Amino acid sequence: MRRYLTIDDVDVSGLRVLVRSDLNVPLEDGRVADDFRIRMALPTLEELVRRGATVTVCSHLGRPKGVDPAFTLRPVAGRMAELASVPVSFDAPVEGGITVLENTRFLDGETKNDPDTAAKLAEGQDLFVQDAFGSVHRAHASTVGVAEILKSVAGPLLDAELKALGRLLEDPDRPYVVVLGGAKVSDKLAVIENLLPRVDRMLVGGGMCFTFLKAQGKAVGSSLIEEDMVETVGRLMGEYDGKIVLPTDFVVADRFAADADSKVVGVDGIEDGWMGLDIGPETAASFASVVKEAASVFWNGPMGVFEWDRFRSGTEAVARAMAESEGFTAIGGGDSAAAIRALGLDGAVTHVSTGGGAGLELLEGRELPGVAVLERWVS
Ligand code: 3PG
Repeated sequence: MRRYLTIDDVDVSGLRVLVRSDLNVPLEDGRVADDFRIRMALPTLEELVRRGATVTVCSHLGRPKGVDPAFTLRPVAGRMAELASVPVSFDAPVEGGITVLENTRFLDGETKNDPDTAAKLAEGQDLFVQDAFGSVHRAHASTVGVAEILKSVAGPLLDAELKALGRLLEDPDRPYVVVLGGAKVSDKLAVIENLLPRVDRMLVGGGMCFTFLKAQGKAVGSSLIEEDMVETVGRLMGEYDGKIVLPTDFVVADRFAADADSKVVGVDGIEDGWMGLDIGPETAASFASVVKEAASVFWNGPMGVFEWDRFRSGTEAVARAMAESEGFTAIGGGDSAAAIRALGLDGAVTHVSTGGGAGLELLEGRELPGVAVLERWVS
């Protein structure tokens, strides 16, 4: 059975359409610091306008406690207006264009999925388009409640995300390689456990790899460690013998700073007082060659502190290998997506996800409430 309808299943001409996008973007000094999510949301909105719908878009931004001007969507609407081929207005209807509503989290009942709040959002609308992949793991009024009231379909971005990331769970082309990085094992443990039975290789870098090395009894100096995870990752390495691939060298630093003293050492050479802040050149080359030879690759999380020049090479090597791979390549998580875009290589991979937590929950195998609710409209 189909899980949801899409905008191609409905004649939207003449309809008033409420779209939920994920316009939760970082702001700096009241300006949009990264417009990736706005750019990704826009084609759906423009397409609906082109098909003759009156389009209103809603989204949350940040985690405000009630109404807080620091979290207004006004700058988002401003940036959208610069990018859009149709007029964009903020909190006021516009003929033949896109109306951007104020932050849904300014509404009292939004995060509680309050039915009155959902009814308020649905008022005056004919159709709901769920296109906020990054938010469908939240059961809020603007993601679930409104879809219980209005006829609801999936937008093209949500559909593309579910299909791309869905391939990583269902019958991926092989060899299938997952590259995981970032600071904490605990954030990704459920993903690791769900993906390990499915993958051929899981390459682990970033801060999280030191917990794995500790479980192997290695000395990791003052590198990041999650003591309470050591036993669990030790068990996983035993259970999935040979699938988990760890770095063989590192760029270590004498303190956590962009200008720290740094050097390359082998995995057995991390001295007391030194911390690994990037994978080393030997590991970067071997990870890159495994990625390039894979038929399916999923990458989430940087290999080091890529914000600082000296600890960026590992993340760059993985990004370049993803771009050079001829297989299906998907990237999830804000940091790895930012890294591939900073290198200008996002066009060379199959899919860059707009989701953070939502992508991880999907790969954990969990039901996404904002997607599950769409099923009721499939007859
Ligand atoms: C995200 O940035 O991952 C989404 O927009 C969800 O935001 P939230 O974690 O504040 O619900």
